[in-house]
Amino acid sequence: MIGVELAEAATFDEWRGKARALLGARVAPEDVAWTGAGAPGLFGGDATPVDTGFALSVPRAFVEVARKAVLHVEPERFALLYRVLWRLQGHRGLMEDAADADVTRLRDLAKAVRRDEHKMHAFVRFKEVKDDDGPRFVAWFEPQHHILRETADFFVRRFTGMRWSIVTPELSAHWDGGQLTFGPGGQRGDVPAEDARDEDWREYYRAMFNPARLKINAMTREMPKHYWKNLPEARDIAGLIASASDRAEGMVEAAPTVPKKRAGAAAARIMPEAPSPGVTRIIDRGAAPASIAELNAALPGCRSCALWRPATQVVMGEGKADRPLLAFVGEQPGDQEDLAGRPFVGPAGQLLDRALKEAGIDRAEAWLTNAVKHFKFEPRGKRRIHSRPNAGEVEACRWWVKHELDLVRPALTVALGATAAASLAGYRGPLHAVRGRIIHAREGRPVFVTVHPSFLLRLPDEAAKTGEYARFVGELREGRRLAGDMAQAA
Ligand code: URA
Repeated sequence: MIGVELAEAATFDEWRGKARALLGARVAPEDVAWTGAGAPGLFGGDATPVDTGFALSVPRAFVEVARKAVLHVEPERFALLYRVLWRLQGHRGLMEDAADADVTRLRDLAKAVRRDEHKMHAFVRFKEVKDDDGPRFVAWFEPQHHILRETADFFVRRFTGMRWSIVTPELSAHWDGGQLTFGPGGQRGDVPAEDARDEDWREYYRAMFNPARLKINAMTREMPKHYWKNLPEARDIAGLIASASDRAEGMVEAAPTVPKKRAGAAAARIMPEAPSPGVTRIIDRGAAPASIAELNAALPGCRSCALWRPATQVVMGEGKADRPLLAFVGEQPGDQEDLAGRPFVGPAGQLLDRALKEAGIDRAEAWLTNAVKHFKFEPRGKRRIHSRPNAGEVEACRWWVKHELDLVRPALTVALGATAAASLAGYRGPLHAVRGRIIHAREGRPVFVTVHPSFLLRLPDEAAKTGEYARFVGELREGRRLAGDMAQAA
């Protein structure tokens, strides 16, 4: 048995150095005992076998997964990684074997690490302190895995202009505006417990909390309890849940006058990168949101066009957020969507639901969203009449739609109507010329084009309605078939 010593928070490169030498000397996985630094009775790093120059086969798919899995706290991970690497030498396609227990376990570890990274992006809360050089922002964070080194670059890109430190129990990261350094871990007491920004986070959360949409399981998936103790806004969760059903009834009675502008204002204070000039900065720096949760957290702060002002709230995408077969992109939320905070719940949404069902598509298994995220309308008496977004408004929202679809990764995106086709593919010709066909988005994404359900609602006579509806259902069916083919080919 060969003992190999690695620090608990060893990086991928450290593990790879040991693994290469072991593999070079053809040491079988069952003959290796991976251990933390300082374990007694085993060989240290120097005792690892000499690399004999054996030509390694390391598929990229393995490296991508291994880079994340190695950061997991699971003690078996080093051994598991080595076992898979060993097996890959005789079976290059192993990573594609979805039924293999080792590969599945490795992918699960990598997934848990990625999730922890995404949560860290969204849930680090800085507190302002002053030192001799001026303001400095410090945050206490308790990740579930060894992710601080991996995530630090994200915070450098996002908060380049600030001096900040993130302290975790095992490691701390420090950015002085020019250089990133790492130091020892710390304790929660190293960071101030309160900050003026806490109240903004709480206000933002309270304003974004939609009692009519409360789904506790989904909520705790988005904001797992593990992170609550360091989130100022989490203090309000219990009270908000307790009062949800009363508030939901109140909202129905008070509709349509439920302004959520407070959310936008609070978001603008706590997310200095998100409002309009920030959007440009994020694009310039290539710092895309790392998860749908992060995108959703930043979206209410967008000021890239003026539509946020009169709208009640931003309406985000919803549905299966991880590689659905289909994503549907509409034009913009309507009156009811604006009040409910959900896409496609009004008359057009109900028609779409019916057509999806007839086409054999489960709405919950698809992603539904809009090219423009705020309701544009003209007030007419007590009513708010839908007004089509102009090219500038579509363009302003395109950045969000692109990143949303990059994160969701549908096999096929369906453009519902002309505004979606313009947003996704820059297509501005007549819709009938591309209807029922695939065109390509600017980023190369395939986009299947059909009509918007509200087109069907507007048709004047019943015969036309029936015919066009049948055609629409047929096109949805065709979209589903194409998406299935694409998913298989991928
Ligand atoms: N129309 C759309 O395009 N989207 C909605 O969410 C509702 C109606």
